[in-house]
Parts: sequence; C-alpha cells; structure tokens
Amino acid sequence: HLSKTDMLARKNVEAELGGGQKRIDAQHKKGKLTARERIALLLDEGSFEEIGKFVMHRTRDFGLDKEHYLGDGVVTGYGTIDGRLVYVFAQDFTVFGGALSETHAEKICKVMDLAMKNGAPVIGLNDSGGARIQEGVLSLAGYADIFYRNTLASGVIPQLSAIMGPCAGGAVYSPAITDFIFMVENTSYMFVTGPNVVKTVTHEEVTAEELGGASTHSTKSGVTHFACENELACIQHIKQLLSYIPQNCEDEPPMLPYEPQDESRPNLNTLIPDNPNQPYDMREVIDELVDAGTFLEVHKNFAENIVVGFARIGGRSIGVVGNQPAVLAGVLDINASTKAARFVRFCDSFNVPLLVLEDVPGFLPGTDQEWNAIITNGAKLLYAFCEATVPRVTVITRKAYGGAYDVMNSKHIGADMNYAWPSAEIAVMGASGAAEIIFKREIAEAEDPQAKLQEKVQEYTEKFANPYRAAHRGYIDEVIYPDQTRQKLIRAFRMLENKVASLPKKKHGNIPL
Ligand code: COA
Repeated sequence: HLSKTDMLARKNVEAELGGGQKRIDAQHKKGKLTARERIALLLDEGSFEEIGKFVMHRTRDFGLDKEHYLGDGVVTGYGTIDGRLVYVFAQDFTVFGGALSETHAEKICKVMDLAMKNGAPVIGLNDSGGARIQEGVLSLAGYADIFYRNTLASGVIPQLSAIMGPCAGGAVYSPAITDFIFMVENTSYMFVTGPNVVKTVTHEEVTAEELGGASTHSTKSGVTHFACENELACIQHIKQLLSYIPQNCEDEPPMLPYEPQDESRPNLNTLIPDNPNQPYDMREVIDELVDAGTFLEVHKNFAENIVVGFARIGGRSIGVVGNQPAVLAGVLDINASTKAARFVRFCDSFNVPLLVLEDVPGFLPGTDQEWNAIITNGAKLLYAFCEATVPRVTVITRKAYGGAYDVMNSKHIGADMNYAWPSAEIAVMGASGAAEIIFKREIAEAEDPQAKLQEKVQEYTEKFANPYRAAHRGYIDEVIYPDQTRQKLIRAFRMLENKVASLPKKKHGNIPL
C-alpha cells in the first residue's frame, strides 16, 4: 500500500522516464539527448519549473486507450538563462516519436500564453515525427493553435526554435514563423514532404539530410539561421543569442558595463585596398569595430555577400549589417536582400540599434535575378530600413553605388548618423561604367578612344569617387579617419540611446513579400 507522497513520487519517476529506458537508450544511440537532458543544459541549474507533467492524451482509437505516457511527449515549463526568465517546451521523441497530439499542443500553447502575458522569450526544442497520426484533425488543430500564437507573439516576445531531430510536414511552420531557427548537424532535418513523397511526385532521389538537413538549410534555403555541430553547441548558441536581446518589445537589450579605453584601431587605416576592384573581408572591419570577440554571426553560410549578426560596442548590444566585398563583390541579390531585411526587422522589433557597414557596387544583374523578382525582394530591404525606428548608424567604407546607396541605411531613409571613410565612393556607378555611358560620343570620336576613356574615367573618379559631394550636402554627417571609427560609433550610439521615433498610425504596413 503506497502512501500519498510515495504515489506522487512514483508518478514523477514515471513521467521523467518518458517513453521508457529502452527508447531513451535508442535516443542516445542516435547521438541525441532526451528532452529533459536538453532542458537541463539550457536552463540555469535547478531553475526549471515544469508545467503539465502529468498531462495525458485523450485518444481512444487505434489502441491508444491502452497506451499512455505522463506528459504526452512534450516537457514544458519555465526557468532562467543567465538569471533571465524564459519559457521552454521540449518535444520528447521517446513518447510516440514526439508526435504532436491535441494535449501535447495544449501544453505548448499554455507556456506560449504565459510567455505573452509575462513578456519573456519562448524557446522550442523540436524533435517530433509530426502530427500524431492516430488523432487526425485534432492534431492538426493543435498545430494551428500553435501557429496562431506564434504569429500573435511575433514582434512581442522573442521566439527561438531549435530543431534537434525530425521536423516535417505541418510541424515546420511553427519554427518558420519564429525569429530564429537553430539546427543540429546530421541529427536534424526539416521538410514539408519527406524523401518518399518527393520520389513519388518528382522522381527525385534524395536523402533526408540532402533534402532538409542542417547544411542544406544553412547554405541553400536559408531556412535555418544557425547550423550547430552538436546539441551542446546548439544550446550554447541559443544562450549567446539571448544575451544580446531584450525580454520583449517593451524592454531594452541587456547592457554590459564598459570602461572606456584606447578606442583607436590603426589596422583600419590600411584595411581597404587602394584598387576598388580588390576584395577584403568585411568581417575584419567588424572585428576591429566591435567589443573583442562579441560578434555572433547569423546566417553565416547563406547569402555570404552580406554579413549580419549581433555584437556589442562599448557594452551596448547592436545588430550589424555589412556588405561583404569578399563574396560577389558585396553585391545585393535576392538572398542577401531577404536575409538582411529579416534581420533588420528583428532588430527593430526588439530595440536593437543597427550598425550598417557599406561597400556595395549595386544590385546583381541578370535574368535569374530579374525573373525571380530582385525588384520585389530588394524592396524588402529598403522597406525594412525605412520603417526601422531604432538608432541607425551607417559607415560607408568604400563603394556606395546607385540605388544600393539609398537602400543601405542612407540618411534619406531615416538613418541617424552617416559616416564615410576617405576611401568612400558615393556615385551612381563605378567610374569606368559611368564614363563609357556619358562620354560615349566623345570617346568614339576621339583619335585614341582608349586614351580618351582613361581621361574621362579619371575625370569622373575625381568628381565622384569620393565622399565629399555627399558630405557637402549633409548626406554624410562626417568623413572620418578609419582608425577613429570605433570611438565615433561608441559615442553615436550613446548619443542615440533615448531616440524616439514613431511611424504613422496604421493597422500594419504592406511589406512587398
Ligand atoms: N504519430 C504517432 N506516432 C508516431 C509518429 C506520428 N506521427 N511518428 C513516429 N511515431 C512513433 C512510432 O510509431 C514509434 O513508436 P514506438 O516507439 O512505439 O515504436 C516511435 O514514434 C518512433 O518512431 P520510429 O519510426 O521508430 O523512429 P525513426 O527514428 O525510425 O523515424 C520518423 C522517425 C519521424 C522518420 C518516422 O517515425 C516517421 O516517418 N513518422 C511519421 C512522420 C509523418 O508522416 N508524420 C505525419 C505528418 S505531419
């Protein structure tokens, strides 16, 4: 005869075993941790408070009335990370393969609702075979309840999704709506339809890893923002990202104490090659400018012609967007535009100031880009910057050509402080292209067209391949010495810290999607 407390203890042990030791062993054999082990790694030690530990499904079909597991395949609750409140749900693959039932979804919705009311991030650790097949539409309804909450929570509280196993079919759309996706290499995959369906419909032979593994989604599709080499790295990335962002849209990002030091960065004086066609790595500029070792790159291997990520400058959290001259000369194309636009919108939603480092030769020409709507997609980045009300600072390191000059956080679209280095070239296009067009006749009629072209290129270069025309107009607030940039930025962001700007009253804008 069990005492009442022993009965509770027994139930606790049962719930904590999920689908049982055999399935836990199988999970470990795949190189995966269990839901509870993941939560233990994610949260501050001893901070986890579980909610709904004894919830059970209510299905009677297909023999499920005889198969019950306390908790129903998802561990939910709250705790702290670096002392800050977060809500968490972790799907338990050992229970029905983590498949989502009506009650499983209810548990997730419960923590999402609490997170919204209390203004704290939600972290979802996904590891699931999808909709609980035995439940049919009840399970689909459960997904929809989650999607709806994801959407309402978007821009109110940060939502992070880690994919640590299967995530297929309808399951993909909750992570897709959240702010950031982290995938674990080799043990996770995401797709709308799996390899078998793909084979039937399109006759393509593809493995799950090729179709939707971490490397695919971090390089080809951009669906995931981070590909992490294992579960531990994934959890560490989540914690690091949280350190840059506030708890909700009314809160400010955490500020770290910072002692002013010698902020001059002489390396920056020699970083830009004299030849404008020669590349350099914008990450080196970022590393010189931000607090040492603080740059957390987002979407590192996707659309590498633009670099985005979080960093700190003088202890202050910022979002960095930089054209990357080392890849495709830093040109803006469809993927770079959507990547940066989404990042800018995240930062603006959550009060993270923006630093833009600009070296852009323009938009990528070609039928591929035009037919896939570079117009619409490039407009996303333009729109995202235009509507951002956070402090916005731009440094033009070299090229700022054509429409891309306008797009990349120019003064005209609301940037607060615009700096240029002496190496900046702010013009409609590069000097040789410009000279060929506007002096076409003169060049053609010259005795030595080549010499004439050179002369005209020189003329255009002297007139426009510099920051001074823009500075005369006030489009550039100051032309600065590269080695002093860090000092300027620390001061500018401090000066802007109480910025108030608002958008015209509207239901919501209509960003070109
Ligand atoms: N509904 C109910 N139970 C499910 C399930 C689902 N969607 N997906 C998996 N399970 C159960 C399995 O029956 C199995 O139960 P058991 O432990 O009692 O044997 C357990 O979860 C583990 O699944 P298993 O197939 O053995 O694991 P795996 O690692 O070999 O494969 C999947 C994982 C996800 C690839 C595979 O289970 C699968 O294809 N599931 C169905 C996916 C799907 O079509 N979902 C519905 C559409 S959204």
